[in-house]
This record gives sequence, C-alpha cells and structure tokens, in this order.
Amino acid sequence: MTFEIKERDAAGRLCHFTTKHGNVTTPNLLPVINPNKMMITPKEMKKRFGTEILITNSYIIYKNPELKKKALESGVHSLIDFDGSVMTDSGTFQSYVYGDVHLDPVEIVQFQRDIGSDIGTILDVFGTPNQTKKKSEQGVQETIERAKRSIPHKGEMLLACPVQGSVYPELREHCARQLSTLSADFFPIGGVVPLMENQRYSDLVRCILAAKQGLDPSKPVHLFGAGHPLIFSLAVALGCDFFDSSAYAKYANDGRMIFQWGTEKFEDLRELPCSCPICSKYSTTELKELDEKERTLQIALHNLYVSFSELKIIRVALTEGWLWELVEQRAASNPFLSEALRVLREPTHQQWLEQYEPTSKKTALFYTGPQTMYRPLIFRYHTRLFTRYEPLFHTTVVFPEGTKPYSMFYSKEMANILKQKNVNLVVRSTLGPVPFELDEMYPLAQSVFPRSIDQETREKTQQVMERLLKDTEIIVWDEHVSIQSEEPLKHPMDFDRRRISAVADMQFGHGVSEALFSEKIHIIKSKRTGKIRNIICDGAHVVSMRAEDGLFTLKIDGGRRLHKRLKYPLLRVVVADDAVPFVKAGKSVFAKFVSECDPDLRPYDECLIVDKQDMFLGIGRTLLTRDEMLSFRHGMAVKTRDSIREE
Ligand code: GUN
Ligand code: ZN
Repeated sequence: MTFEIKERDAAGRLCHFTTKHGNVTTPNLLPVINPNKMMITPKEMKKRFGTEILITNSYIIYKNPELKKKALESGVHSLIDFDGSVMTDSGTFQSYVYGDVHLDPVEIVQFQRDIGSDIGTILDVFGTPNQTKKKSEQGVQETIERAKRSIPHKGEMLLACPVQGSVYPELREHCARQLSTLSADFFPIGGVVPLMENQRYSDLVRCILAAKQGLDPSKPVHLFGAGHPLIFSLAVALGCDFFDSSAYAKYANDGRMIFQWGTEKFEDLRELPCSCPICSKYSTTELKELDEKERTLQIALHNLYVSFSELKIIRVALTEGWLWELVEQRAASNPFLSEALRVLREPTHQQWLEQYEPTSKKTALFYTGPQTMYRPLIFRYHTRLFTRYEPLFHTTVVFPEGTKPYSMFYSKEMANILKQKNVNLVVRSTLGPVPFELDEMYPLAQSVFPRSIDQETREKTQQVMERLLKDTEIIVWDEHVSIQSEEPLKHPMDFDRRRISAVADMQFGHGVSEALFSEKIHIIKSKRTGKIRNIICDGAHVVSMRAEDGLFTLKIDGGRRLHKRLKYPLLRVVVADDAVPFVKAGKSVFAKFVSECDPDLRPYDECLIVDKQDMFLGIGRTLLTRDEMLSFRHGMAVKTRDSIREE
C-alpha cells in the first residue's frame, strides 16, 4: 500500500492511495455493492462515475453457500465483476441492525483474505450513541483485542480497524491511539450511522475530531456509513479520506433524491433541480411514468451522480484552497450542520485545526458569515498578533477600513503623520486590527469581506482590537485630526524596515527578525509596483518577499543566518544521514528520511534543513506537519529550494 499527500487544505488532504488493484484518489466515495442484489453493477459504476474503489460485505457472501463457494474459488473481484479496488466489511453492522450474528472474529478476517479482498475489516464491536461509558469502554477494549488477534491473519490484505467509543471523545481518542500502535492499514470511524440518521452532526464532529487526534496521520481514514453528500465537505476538512454509500440505493428505494443541500421526495418535485444525465434525460412526468423498478434505478443513478459530483467539488476546493468556504456554504443549508460547525469554535479544536492549516493559499479568503471569524487562518493571525507582534509606540492612530493594501490607500496620511510623530498605524479591519506594516501579508491583503458586517463579527473584531492596543493611547483618524508633536522628530520611523521586521516575526517567530536582518541592509523594491522584493544584508541576499502573499522566501544566506542564531529545533527539519547527500545535491526531502521537525512549522512554511548533528544543509518549503513527516512512509516532506552544494 502507498498513501501519499498531494494537496491539502484545512485538516483535509488529497492523497494518492494504491492497492493491489490500482490507484485511488482521495477523498473518495465507495459505493456499497450488495452481492445478492446489485441494483447497479460495478462495471456500470466504473463506466458512469469512474468508480475506482467500492465496498461489499463479506458476511453476506460468507453466509450464502453459493456466493461463498464462488468467492473462494474465483475471488471477490470476479464475483462482483470489478477489476478496481474492493473493500469488504465484516458483519459488524448486520449484528448491530439485526442482533446477534454468530461469527468468529478471526474466521471472517481469514475469509476476507481468502477471497482476495484488497481491504478487509475486522469484526469490531459497534458502539451505539446511547450506551453507557462503561459499556462503550468494554466494546472498545474488545475491538482492540480483536484487532490484535486479526492482524496476524491479514496476509497481503490491508486491514481496516474501526475506531469505536460511542459519543465519548476520550474513548474515541484512546481507541484510535491504541489501534494506531498496531499494524493496521486503514482506519474507519465506526458507530456513527445512528448519529447521522438523527442528524446529530455536532456529536459526529466531536467523534471525528477525537478519533483524528489519536490516529496515525499517515493512514487513510474512512467515515463508516456516511453516504449523504451534505456532510462530505465538513468531514473532509476534518481529515476524513473515504466515505461509503448505501444511501444511494436505500434512498432510491424510498423514492428519495439526494441533493447537495439535503434530500427531496421525488413525488413532491414539480421539476428536477439537477442537470445530471438522468435529470437531463427525464422530466418528472416521464420519471413517474416509468415502472417502479426502472424509476428506482434511475433515481439511484441520480443519487450517485450527485454524490460523486460533490466529491469532485471538494477535491477542487481542497486543491484551490477554498475548502472552508465550501464547508460554510454547505453548513448554511442545514441547521444541524451549521450547529456542528460551531463546535469548531472551541479553543482546543481551533488549536488542533490551526496545526494543519496551510501558511498560504492560491486563493483569497472569502467571508461567508460570522463563522468565518473562527477559521484557522484568522485564529492564527490573532494568536500571532498577541505572541509575535508588539506595537512600538505609545500612540496608535486607528483608521477605518479602506482599499487593500491599506498603506497604499492611506499613503498620503501615513507620510504626513510619520513626519510629525512616531505612532502605530492600525486599520480597524473586519478580520481584526491590521497594523499598516502587515497589510500585504496573507491573508490580510488576500481576503474579501462585505462592506457591512453583522454585529457578532463586529464584536469579535472589537475585542481583538482592544486587547492589542490596550496599552496605547488611541486616536481615531478622520480628516480633521491633526497629529502634532511637541518637538521635531529626531528619529523618524523607517517604515520599510519596520515592515520587514514585523513580517519576519509574524511569519517565523518572535524575535526572528533580529536574527535575520542586520544594520547594514539594502531593500530592493519592484520598479513597477514599488513593493519590497529583495533584502540584502551585509552584501548577502537573505530573503525575497513574494508578491502574491507578502510573505518571505528564504534564500540560502538567510537560512545560514537563522541557523547560526536560532536554537535547535527552531525552524528545522532534521534528515537522516542517508538523505544528506541528496539534500546537498538540491533534491527534495522525502518523509521517510525526516527524523525530527520543529513542531511549530506549518504546511508550506519556509524551513531550514539540517542533519542529525544540526549541520546546515539547505532551505526549503514544508509540505507536511511534524507529525505527518514522522509517520508518512511515502511522499515529499520538504521541497528543497537551495542547498549548500559542497563536496
Ligand atoms: N458500517 C457502518 N458502521 C460500521 C461500523 O461501525 N463498523 C463496521 N465494521 N461497519 C460499519
Ligand atoms: Zn440528477
């Protein structure tokens, strides 16, 4: 098996996953195939939807003598006539729905192996939402025991070990952590179907977050039984890679059509609000005139089109950097989902999510409502304002929102004020106070807010503003304000220097600007835009400022300076000895060669690459978090930009 991160956004990832039967791109949906009655054949699914992976049930095959014989003789792929990847479930869910099923946990794993399943599932103990903590704890213990007993029998099959623990976050995390110490390959989050059936999405979010916190980040995570596209984007943003859907068939049997915003009874629809091939071919009247079996099939196909289409949207959003925008849009279409999104406002969850949030994205941050203020990017900005930024002067002039970047919009006012007096210049922006010197930094310049803002957001902005400026005297700027100083200014502020120091501290850490820059400094600006481009210290090019996100790119000499002056492990990615010659030759760092990493580095941060003796090797850009670097076996961890290139 390989599993490798290719793109990322929020705590979600787009990965390449391979089994013996080919490649799968995640996030993805596994349609459920009932080997007794295939409403839509796997072949047809592949043709229509490009289905790369599906799931069927080994227990159903096992207890039907004819299917069992066929599967053992020619394999599960041939049984259902599909040459892509096949996952099998174990009978746990049947036991939850129909009561006791008499199955030996090891035997059903051996059976899945023997019929050639690509990913088999252990017989976990389904933890229901209403069970006591004690009962749930027993189920978790038994699930872990069964995982331990099953693993020696998996052979070449990948083994899925579901995380149980009912609605108890501690149990979920414990179960996840324990299973992650075993040689399991795939982690479904189980026991959540009743939560989804009852639209208990807040509880679902807590279950996912707790499981993810305990899980090995380098293994695929599957949300077991999640088939409604409404929740896909939120689950992906929290780090789920796979879903499975029997919903397409179940809903179709009830005459219900799935849409991105929810479900509609087909009979109630005067018009089909969809343009999938089915809805393009039939009018409602024509669909009504079909015989029931045919109509059910057509509705099932529509349901799959909508589900797969949502996954395409999610993969694009994730790649382009607007996954949170998509999550907020979807949440707006369902009150329970929007309630679930509010769970993420809790500080511990914000902290967890912030770790995964990329430093910079291809697209601007779009405001969709008060929830936007709790995005990890804004949480990070506020946190860093309080820990990495200090207002320099006793007086602060506060400006109203203007066009971005603010220092350009208010350039005349700024020049006039700074001639008179050294003051802090801050814009009261919707995402919080923005000091002029930070105004080009992602996402401050790369964000779009409506002109008028709701009360809740205004209050949040105000709180951050007051906290940041609590020790300074505030002057609210308007055309009539004149800033006079008592005596002529001896040392007027050099605004460019202030900008590069403030940005370096916000980007790399408090005080880093002192390590990076020196007294003898030359700032080169773009002739066309007037913006800072390159910074030369003592004749050496230390950093460039990127036009697209206003953040610094480290140059090799900048890396050397930081390495000399910042203590281990700050900004470092440590590589194993085997990788040293490759890094020196300018090659990128693969995750399996990383032996340590500064836990404060975030995806797409600039970093220093060092060997185990902390010898400086080069500089690059991280693609993974520390925990990911230390657990992934495949894929790149750092894209090397330059190295010391010596013998
Ligand atoms: N299908 C839906 N939920 C579950 C679960 O918790 N365990 C297993 N094995 N299958 C499921
Ligand atoms: Zn349709």
